[in-house]
Amino acid sequence: MNTLTVELAERSYPILIGPGLLDHADVVGAHVPPGAVLLVSNTTVAPLYAGALKRALPGRTIVEAILPDGESYKTLDSLARILDVAVANRLARDSTVVALGGGVVGDLAGFAAACYQRGVDFVQIPTTLLAQVDSSVGGKTGVNHPGGKNLIGAFHQPVAVIADTNTLATLPARELRAGLAEIIKYGLIHDAAFFDWLEVNVDRVLAGNADALTHAIRRSCEIKAEIVGRDERERGDRALLNLGHTFGHAIEAATGYGTWLHGEAVAAGMLMAAAMSRECGYLGESDVARLRALLHRVGLPIAAPDVTPQTALEHMKIDKKVKAGRMRFVLLKRIGAALVTAEYPAEALQTTLTGYFG
Ligand SMILES: NC(=O)c1ccc[n+]([C@@H]2O[C@H](COP(=O)([O-])OP(=O)(O)OC[C@H]3O[C@@H](n4cnc5c(N)ncnc54)[C@H](O)[C@@H]3O)[C@@H](O)[C@H]2O)c1
Ligand SMILES: [Zn+2]
Repeated sequence: MNTLTVELAERSYPILIGPGLLDHADVVGAHVPPGAVLLVSNTTVAPLYAGALKRALPGRTIVEAILPDGESYKTLDSLARILDVAVANRLARDSTVVALGGGVVGDLAGFAAACYQRGVDFVQIPTTLLAQVDSSVGGKTGVNHPGGKNLIGAFHQPVAVIADTNTLATLPARELRAGLAEIIKYGLIHDAAFFDWLEVNVDRVLAGNADALTHAIRRSCEIKAEIVGRDERERGDRALLNLGHTFGHAIEAATGYGTWLHGEAVAAGMLMAAAMSRECGYLGESDVARLRALLHRVGLPIAAPDVTPQTALEHMKIDKKVKAGRMRFVLLKRIGAALVTAEYPAEALQTTLTGYFG
């Protein structure tokens, strides 16, 4: 088992990573605070893993909120359902909300934990690769609104993250590939040696090799933990984690959410950010080619969907990260180093958009 810590003073917490953690009652029991448990999961994940989780928490009061599966259920209605279960069972202030599932379940459960009695403890048990390397770490929680994704939410850090890599064995291959996009992102923004390692080991990760998966997840969590530790509320460096996301969100929105998985859109978006970095004179073409080759090997998209540059630009402008009309981008100085900037030649963006969008 690998353990690392997200350093946030009194809100610091451990991330545990390894195969079979859910089968270890000592590990799970030690990290789910005493008191009642509100288990939040969905109809896909609960039948697979809720039994193991309950066996790891013998003698504890456990009540359940099992939601339908899907991003379309990441809503205020689902939040209300979770809170209704908490109230109906008169859960006390010392109860813990445990999220068992992917990012949708984690974001919802975390927001419920932030709201119930103005905040109760929260444990993340992420079961998708994306959730294990990204959404379970950092304390962003929330729901979607018809007016936009993740518009309503709170910062609420978990007290522990337990990432059992064995759960990835049942994850659809397409979801595993999508999670790899965020892993590649960490190499690009922060660690050239990790990017090199991925070029050598990505096939082992995709094949589910436990050592390779654990290393990839651990290094990703370390990088996210370091960035979140410096800038919990995204006033500065945390924005680096949005590499490829402005282009990616435009792809998701323009194609209709759910057509492309988030990680797929981020993959194409990162390639566009790399191309724009090259247009700005930061990145060499050989590095753009390395990224393209790695994404291609993973089976992630390296081309944009059939959307006009104008439509893509309109979606980018309504992205919530746009400040005061000037679009900011995360660009790559080189592989392993990124910057957030609103200073770039207009042609660099235009050339990138026309180069990728129909
Ligand atoms: N809070 C954050 O910092 C943050 C960061 C990134 C993404 N997110 C959010 O995360 C969500 C996406 O998360 P996701 O990619 O995990 O999607 P998801 O939660 O929808 O999970 C993907 C699919 O895999 C299924 N699944 C989960 N674990 C499984 C397993 N072990 N075996 C079989 N099937 C399994 C789910 O039921 C679902 O159908 C989005 O809502 C996004 O906004 C949040
Ligand atoms: Zn993302």
